[in-house]
Parts: sequence; C-alpha cells; structure tokens
Amino acid sequence: MSAIQLREGIWSVGVLNPSLRVFDIVMEAKYGTSYNAYLLTGEKNVLIETVHADYFEEYEQNIRQVLPLEQVDYLIMNHNEPDHSGSVARLLDQCPGLEIFCTAAGKKHLEDITNRTLPCRVVKAGDKLDLGGRTLEFIPAPLLHWADSMFTWDPADKTLFTCDFLGCHFCEPTMLDENIHDQAAYEGEFAYYYQGIFGPFKPFVLAGLDKMPADARLVCPSHGPCLSGTLERAKELYRTWSTPKSKEKKSAFVVYASAYGCTAALAAAAAKALEAEGFSVTTADVTKQSLSACADAANEADVLLVGAPTINKDAPKAVWDVLACLDAVNTKGRAAGAFGAYGWSGEAPGMLHTRLQQLRFAAPETPFKVLFTPTTEDLEAMAGYARSVADLIK
Ligand SMILES: Cc1cc2nc3c(=O)[nH]c(=O)nc-3n(C[C@H](O)[C@H](O)[C@H](O)COP(=O)(O)O)c2cc1C
Repeated sequence: MSAIQLREGIWSVGVLNPSLRVFDIVMEAKYGTSYNAYLLTGEKNVLIETVHADYFEEYEQNIRQVLPLEQVDYLIMNHNEPDHSGSVARLLDQCPGLEIFCTAAGKKHLEDITNRTLPCRVVKAGDKLDLGGRTLEFIPAPLLHWADSMFTWDPADKTLFTCDFLGCHFCEPTMLDENIHDQAAYEGEFAYYYQGIFGPFKPFVLAGLDKMPADARLVCPSHGPCLSGTLERAKELYRTWSTPKSKEKKSAFVVYASAYGCTAALAAAAAKALEAEGFSVTTADVTKQSLSACADAANEADVLLVGAPTINKDAPKAVWDVLACLDAVNTKGRAAGAFGAYGWSGEAPGMLHTRLQQLRFAAPETPFKVLFTPTTEDLEAMAGYARSVADLIK
C-alpha cells in the first residue's frame, strides 16, 4: 500500500498485512489486517503511530512519498502495543530530532518496550500541539485497551485518531469505509474485534464514546479502514454492546461435565438452591452446549459454579476450556465455586477452585466434593455450598 491522501495535509502511511491469520495469539484475522499510521503535514510535520517492526521499510517508503523522513518533527503514540510502536526505535535512528507525544503510561510502556530512554513529551487531557495552521488536542482514554491509550483530535478537519478504538482486522487498500466491497465481512470483523479487544473494558468504552468530539466526521483507527459513512453506526454499536443489560434478578450459571450423572446431580441441587434464593439460574452440561454459549453465560453471571468429575487426576478438558474463556478483567463483585464427584483421589474440584481464585473471583475457602454417587445428605450439603457462594455477593 502506498501513501494515501485522506484530507488536505492528512495522509495514511500505514501498511497492509493481508496474510495474517492469528493476531496477539488469541484473535483470528480472517481477512488479514493493516497497521495504520498517519502523517499530518504543515509548518510542522507529525506522524501518528508507527507500524509493526517487520513493516518498517514499507512505512518509511510511504512517508518518503510525501516528504523526506528527516522533515518529520513529531511522533504521536496514542497507544504503544508493539503492532504500533514496533518501528519507533528505527524511526528515531533515522530521525534523531524527533519528539514523541504520549501519556505518562505510554512513556513507561514505550521505554520498557524499546529498552531505551526516549525523547517523550508526556501529555494530559486538554494539552494541545500547535503545528502552525493546525492545532491538535490530546484526549487520554485509558484502558482502551491499555492504560496508555489516548485519542488525538484535529478540530480543523474534524478528524479523530483513535488507535485501536473503532478499528478492526480488515484489509481495505483504499483505507476508506465507503470503498469496502464485502460490507458483511467487515461488519463481522468489526464486531469480533470489539468483542476480543474492548469486551473486557465496557465502562471504559462508554467513557471513550463520551469523550469523542460529537462533530468528528472522520475517525482514523490503527487497524482497518477509516470511518466516515459508517461512523455513527459504529459508535451506536459500541454503545449498545457496552451498555449493561438491566437485570431484574441476579444471575447464576451452573456449568459442569458428568460421565455418569454424579456431578450432574450436584449441579441440579446447586441450581435448585440458587433459584430458591431468588437467582435467575442457567445450567449447562459442557458436552451438550457450545463452548461459546457456556463462555458467554459464565462471563455474564453474578454467581458461577463450575463442576467436574475427576478423570485421571484432573478435570476434563471441556471444563477447563470454559475457564480459559473467562474474562479475568471483570471478575470484581462476582463469586464462584467449584464442585464435583470423584472416586478415590478427587483432584478436579480443588484445581478448578484454585483457578477461580487466581482469576480473583470471590470464592469460599474450599471446593465441594463428593465420593461417587451423592447421597441425600450430600445433595443438601451441595445446596448449602451453592448458597455460601451466593452469600459472597450479598
Ligand atoms: C476414565 C476415568 C478416570 C477416572 N479417574 C479418576 C481419578 O483419577 N481420580 C478419582 O478420584 N476418580 C477418578 N474417576 C472416578 C470418577 O471421578 C467418579 O466415577 C465420579 O463419580 C464420576 O462422576 P460423574 O458421574 O459426574 O462423571 C475416574 C473415572 C473414569 C471413568
């Protein structure tokens, strides 16, 4: 991709990576991605973001299509994850007079990433950078999706540079949303990106939307196309996805696996007890429900109970898979417990319990386990255990 003029004096100088299929270990990138960067020219010339280290040469060529690299005065880093900051060190080597603008957290991250002291000017909310004919304004927007995140606002062109916010992994060679051929594919990726990157930070997303200047007409993110025609719809979607659903009752999710019905009987006793306590309860056998349905329910529940029999000194993988999908950022104010039937050694409930504690759920001191087939007393004890977990959020 070469340099693309987006507005008078605003250039896209980022690169495409159409063959990428896995991003940050955890995300699928069906349509590849782009590492976006922008160059604003005028009396002073400013770059916004760099690109992944592997793509420095193409980035440099794109900048040189607009002006000699040595004429760049400033670099604004809205967020410093290495897909954006990976070329900072090499850029500085070629542009030693460059001054970097970022938040205090950004400076720390960038210096820890590059292992060098950098010429950073730390900015706060409302700080401005006068470029002569264009004044940029900085809008810190923490936890979108690191502590360092900020937006940069160009009021003259009503253009907002948001880094990952409102971005997605999608290769659009023209960089414009209005030119996307497969709109459904883009929308799918836009939703998937929100879910993977911003899903854990919903309150911060709402704060970020409120900080966006209402008259923004162009949003330039760090992945995928710039948004103009789709901007209002994209903001609405982010707001809808981030607004908590109003619940009449607290919710509980009892998720389990069971080969011979022993753990299933415990799950049923727990569910009945929590219903009697006034919870809206959902129960799922992990072998009969999809992992994504179990993961969604587990992440939404106020109270989570996870049950597994011990099979070969461990819990079955299908149960661990649900725990691997738990959103560890948002467990504050939520409670969880572990239970299961076993035959002789009974490791599974303890292992699950430890994992739930590590994720910082409020949890009782011990898990609950029963030898083989639960007796009536065992089922009553299970009900008591479920109530004790629920008590942790009262
Ligand atoms: C293949 C297999 C391996 C097992 N391994 C263990 C084990 O390592 N430790 C243990 O305490 N129980 C073990 N058990 C016994 C089960 O945990 C026990 O039968 C339990 O009651 C099953 O509960 P469920 O009916 O909910 O599946 C094993 C059972 C099976 C079928």
